[in-house]
Amino acid sequence: MYVCVCNAVTDRQIRKARDNGASSVEDLSRELKVATCCGRCSDCARKILCEKANSTLIPTSLAVESFASA
Ligand code: FES
Repeated sequence: MYVCVCNAVTDRQIRKARDNGASSVEDLSRELKVATCCGRCSDCARKILCEKANSTLIPTSLAVESFASA
């Protein structure tokens, strides 16, 4: 699933970055350019960072909420 539409970044890429040490949206911005354009993805990206490391599912509603609230 695309989390950052502006930069075509998926939840898998964010989880991989997290597993490799990214711990903040700022880390994701530097590494993947997440939230460097419109910023609507920052809440969803933050939630993925906070997931348990062994969880691979994210409710679709999180992504929808991020874009619907703007
Ligand atoms: S959706 Fe990520 S910067 Fe726009």
